[in-house]
Amino acid sequence: MTQIIDGNEVGDRIQNELSTSIATLTDAGVTPGLATVLMSDDGASETYVSMKQRACEEIGVNGYHHEIDSDEPARSLLTQIDELNADPSVHGILVQMPVPDHVDKQTVLERIDPLKDVDGFHPENVGRLVTGNPRFKPCTPHGVQKLIAAADVDPEGKDIVVVGRSDIVGKPLANLLLQKMDGGNATVTVCHSRTKNLAEKTRNADVVVAAVGVPELIDGEMITEGTVVIDVGVNRVDADTEKGYELVGDVDFETAKDKASAITPVPGGVGPMTITMLLYNTVKAASVQED
Ligand code: GUN
Repeated sequence: MTQIIDGNEVGDRIQNELSTSIATLTDAGVTPGLATVLMSDDGASETYVSMKQRACEEIGVNGYHHEIDSDEPARSLLTQIDELNADPSVHGILVQMPVPDHVDKQTVLERIDPLKDVDGFHPENVGRLVTGNPRFKPCTPHGVQKLIAAADVDPEGKDIVVVGRSDIVGKPLANLLLQKMDGGNATVTVCHSRTKNLAEKTRNADVVVAAVGVPELIDGEMITEGTVVIDVGVNRVDADTEKGYELVGDVDFETAKDKASAITPVPGGVGPMTITMLLYNTVKAASVQED
């Protein structure tokens, strides 16, 4: 029987533990605060940010949301970040990516106080992750690590193939899985659009993580019996539904699930974990800043 890894269930378990920490901090006079900043007209980004804000409200984290028109100059966004950096009630700052083309992403990421960088995207925090001393584990990769554990797999010594090399998922995930730490010690292969014989790589993996943004790229033919499959993809494809689209992952769930020993669905797999680990980092940021 294939295990369908339920991200909502795993996320709820972690959020229950977080509730206790939030209550303790709040009782001590420090309610964790997360600021989200959106500078984009993209519908998916708007949805993600509102989901993050709703999660804050539900768990007792103070959520602060700021929107900046996408045609404003970069300076408007940087000024907003400066204000949030200086605000002691804000422990975590998240600027939803992508930002408009006229805004330099790297300048934005470097402007965020590294102690408030709950995404873990500031170069200082990226450097700490790569050198094995992470301050904030990036949310989606950390969530993937938890889902692999939920499938009862210890990455140590396993062959893990990460398909995708983004700064947000593929690269930080590869680093986490490689670390000499619990949840790490794997042999990691990172594949991407220029990889030759992708199927050959994925068929030799104990765990395949798909994070490329190509709808249903990984199908049952590309994996071997018993593989754990984690699908990070969230792709909107045209469909005859009320909204005019449906969400599909980077994995062809129907064919892959017949081979996999455990697999995440889309939606309901990695998505809820990203939000949970964001709350986790916000609580951690609050604890450190108020210590
Ligand atoms: N866009 C897609 N994923 C993420 C994320 O994890 N954090 C931020 N800030 N933007 C994103």
